[in-house]
Amino acid sequence: MSRIRTAVLISGRGSNMMALVEATRAPGFPAEIVRVISNRPDAKGLGFAEAQGIATAVIDHTAFPGRDAFEAALQSRLEADGIELVALAGFMRVLSPAFTAKWRDRILNIHPSLLPAYKGLHTHERALAGGATRHGCTVHYVTAELDGGATILQAEVPVLAGDTVETLAARVLTEEHRIYPRALGIVARKLQAKTST
Ligand code: GRF
Repeated sequence: MSRIRTAVLISGRGSNMMALVEATRAPGFPAEIVRVISNRPDAKGLGFAEAQGIATAVIDHTAFPGRDAFEAALQSRLEADGIELVALAGFMRVLSPAFTAKWRDRILNIHPSLLPAYKGLHTHERALAGGATRHGCTVHYVTAELDGGATILQAEVPVLAGDTVETLAARVLTEEHRIYPRALGIVARKLQAKTST
């Protein structure tokens, strides 16, 4: 069965993208990463992808007059690559309802909280400030509602006495790297089943 052609969208460090790339190398993994796209030319993750021989592209949102033009360029790139599944991994642009509708059930994101808690930014700060005793991360489908699509997988970590934003973020990140590849596998397998019927 052919592997699901996947693009990973990043804006920075790209550690989740790296975890996805590594996982997709396993024999029999149902997705392959054929393109890494960054909206920022200086995203650190681009170097890793290039070094791994994965095609990259920079689609710099600041070079476009607005979101529609940026998304049109993104869509053209995805279509030219024959992409079937999109994984957002630290991609810091909000996508329009028109774009997310086009990719319905074929676009995923990882968010560093136990959604629906702490949608949006600064999740670790807010969990600590709110006195949370448990925190974590969620892989979910992307819809028009920010951090609001259906959950695919979640992982929970404890918030420990003396935690700082950094120690908590690191504990959550370890779980991100564990569940995102699993979630990608789940969704890719579903898509394979769909295309084979
Ligand atoms: C991760 O914490 C992810 O959950 C959030 O942004 C961060 C990206 O980190 N959406 P990286 O670029 O994958 O290292």
